[in-house]
Amino acid sequence: MISEKIQDALNKQLNAEFYSSYFYLSMSAYFESKDLMGFANWFRVQANEEYAHAMKIFDYIYQIGGEVKLMEIKGPKTDWNSFLEVFQDTYEHEQKVTKSINEILDLAYSEKDHATVNFLQWFVSEQVEEEATAQQNLKKMEMIGDSKAALFMLDRELGSRVQSPA
Ligand code: FEO
Repeated sequence: MISEKIQDALNKQLNAEFYSSYFYLSMSAYFESKDLMGFANWFRVQANEEYAHAMKIFDYIYQIGGEVKLMEIKGPKTDWNSFLEVFQDTYEHEQKVTKSINEILDLAYSEKDHATVNFLQWFVSEQVEEEATAQQNLKKMEMIGDSKAALFMLDRELGSRVQSPA
């Protein structure tokens, strides 16, 4: 059994992961509209990964005898001033997600909820990867500047991303 506090925090994080999925899908749609299909692919795969993160939390809440409470998902941003801005938003967003995972972890420690501490370790490692990838992509975009040729090369690279198995 989990405490009400932990259950609420996990339900909030579940909602945040669904929002992340929506946010990245919105970026995918944006790149589709700009005919950058490699970028669109990368963000679509990312959106699916975020959905998988949400479902991991969904399953865990039931495993420990809690109750899932789905909440309204806020509408994501749908337009950007530049391609670079999308990658700035992505990096900033992942930093926020890391912060919120760490806050739940602090709460789980204070509640002496060892099962949830253990469960969240996967998310801690995942966030290290997510932040590193977001930062690398941002750096590449900064290097690209106004070069169309480099942009198309990155589009090709991002187009090769495939869904990793759950
Ligand atoms: Fe589920 Fe990208 O954090």
